[in-house]
Amino acid sequence: MRYFVTALGLAAGLAGIAAAQDGSRSGPGAPELQEGKAVYAHWCAPCHAADPGLAGTLALQNKYEGSLPAALEDRTDLQPAVISYFVRNGVAWMAPFRPTEISDAELEQLNAYLTAPLEQRGAHTQLLAQEMVRKSAAGGDQ
Ligand code: HEC
Repeated sequence: MRYFVTALGLAAGLAGIAAAQDGSRSGPGAPELQEGKAVYAHWCAPCHAADPGLAGTLALQNKYEGSLPAALEDRTDLQPAVISYFVRNGVAWMAPFRPTEISDAELEQLNAYLTAPLEQRGAHTQLLAQEMVRKSAAGGDQ
């Protein structure tokens, strides 16, 4: 029980951090970006979402020391060719993604999402764990 309460407090704290960074980021985002956003949510957010404890976000926070946003979906400097290079080749402990995991068409959609103007991207991608905590706080899986 104590563990559960602690976990809940931690998750609420992390949600607070994400909310504090939201700024103009709210709503679902542009309809044409939804497929790319879904690719990001599935394959990238577990390491790159706006949560300072994640492997990718932490590594990029250390790399740029705040001169660029640590969360990938807050970046406006990335070019499609750069994103594609990292996705297909990997870096450090980020493994390369094969076309059987992320097809070329999906990679194009992912690139469209990560290079769109921030105000078109909608709210930050939620981590599954945060969604689960929110559901249990709301009284179960409804
Ligand atoms: C297993 C965790 C993990 C996953 C999953 C992951 N990454 Fe990464 N990614 C990292 C880490 C760690 C780094 C930073 C390596 C370093 O220290 O330079 C990184 C770096 C990057 C960079 C380089 C950014 C820069 O400025 O140096 C890009 C671009 C990138 N990832 C894109 C993606 C995309 C797109 C996805 C989803 C398709 C993804 N990553 C999935 C862990 C991950």
